[in-house]
Amino acid sequence: MRLRDCHNFSDFRRMAQQRLPGPIFNYIDGAADDEVTYRRNTESFERCDLVPNVLRGVSEIDMSVTVMGQKLAMPVYCSPTALQRLFHHQGECAVAKAAAKYGTMFGVSSLGTVSLEEARKISSGPQVYQFYFHRDRGLNRAMMQRAKDIGVEVMMLTVDSITGGNRERDKRTGFAIPFKLNLSGMLQFAVKPAWAINYFTHEGFKLPQLDEHVDMGGGTMSISHYFTEMLDPSMNWDDVAEMVRLWQGPFCLKGVMSVEDARRAAEIGCSGIVLSNHGGRQLDGSRAAFDQLAEIVDAVGDRIDVIMDGGVQRGTHVLKALSLGAKAVGVGRYYLFPLAAAGQAGVERALEQMRVEIERGMKLMGCTSIEQLTRENLRFR
Ligand SMILES: Cc1cc2nc3c(=O)[nH]c(=O)nc-3n(C[C@H](O)[C@H](O)[C@H](O)COP(=O)(O)O)c2cc1C
Repeated sequence: MRLRDCHNFSDFRRMAQQRLPGPIFNYIDGAADDEVTYRRNTESFERCDLVPNVLRGVSEIDMSVTVMGQKLAMPVYCSPTALQRLFHHQGECAVAKAAAKYGTMFGVSSLGTVSLEEARKISSGPQVYQFYFHRDRGLNRAMMQRAKDIGVEVMMLTVDSITGGNRERDKRTGFAIPFKLNLSGMLQFAVKPAWAINYFTHEGFKLPQLDEHVDMGGGTMSISHYFTEMLDPSMNWDDVAEMVRLWQGPFCLKGVMSVEDARRAAEIGCSGIVLSNHGGRQLDGSRAAFDQLAEIVDAVGDRIDVIMDGGVQRGTHVLKALSLGAKAVGVGRYYLFPLAAAGQAGVERALEQMRVEIERGMKLMGCTSIEQLTRENLRFR
């Protein structure tokens, strides 16, 4: 399969599956428990229909949005995800370059494989730092200061990962950092030598956001150990309020789902919230962000920017979320499979397809700008 054969999410997913060793593909593709929430994330968009208007003069389309003070040329951004250089040696660099080309925002994860500084050099576009809350408050302050010093625009604190989700596919293959592959996992690497050659002939794997601050034991400390030993499960609203005060800039919480939490986020001065169930990878059975969106927009949409992610595979999914009142939409696997399939060229192709789908969808909806998308354009079944 070649890149030019990829016309949609499923095509990219198939090409990534062909390229990646099974344990890595399943790390991206998998989710928690029975993966019910993961499936529902995309299905949720199918429960409502678009109602277009016609004869509106749609030769010029403006799909730009401003979210948390950042102007984006398109209403979709690349949500922060871990371990990208395992998927393709270009990793976060590919995503940063592609996002810059399409004038959109991208996130660097705390578990990113390229440093915030390197990503900053690649893109002058809006950069998000996805952050976890450590037991060591001094460490939290130092990491935020570092992000501030290099000009990261948006701080995104992930709040839905207070403990790890139950990813059974990873248990079956033995996927972990460092690798603890079982025999079947090893065999799945052995049958993808092209991946191994690519991986081992490029710069060694590292986790620069952590390496500089946390003793990862020269690679022997596992990510799961990092989560249990270094992160603080007692984190509460007062702790986050202090972080928001310290940051003094756009700050958002990723993984808020309830109206009560959305109100509290607004009260402590957050500029945005991302409604998210972490791509179904944390609490299985939790609601799809799209299903929860209208309730949250009605409660806090006039005070903070409401963003959503989860299950987005099409331009029309984005149009539905924006019609309900989301200010922008994040994608994860939508760009990760293209990254795994073809590096930067893959991510660019996926973002181009998204841009074209949004433009076409807006024209067919009779809209020339994002504000013209309203709930009048939607009907739930
Ligand atoms: C492989 C993978 C790694 C991820 N790593 C992180 C992470 O390090 N931090 C984080 O806040 N979210 C992480 N996420 C969640 C994404 O940021 C995003 O919320 C999710 O992927 C959206 O769902 P989608 O993949 O259906 O678009 C990860 C998701 C995937 C698929």
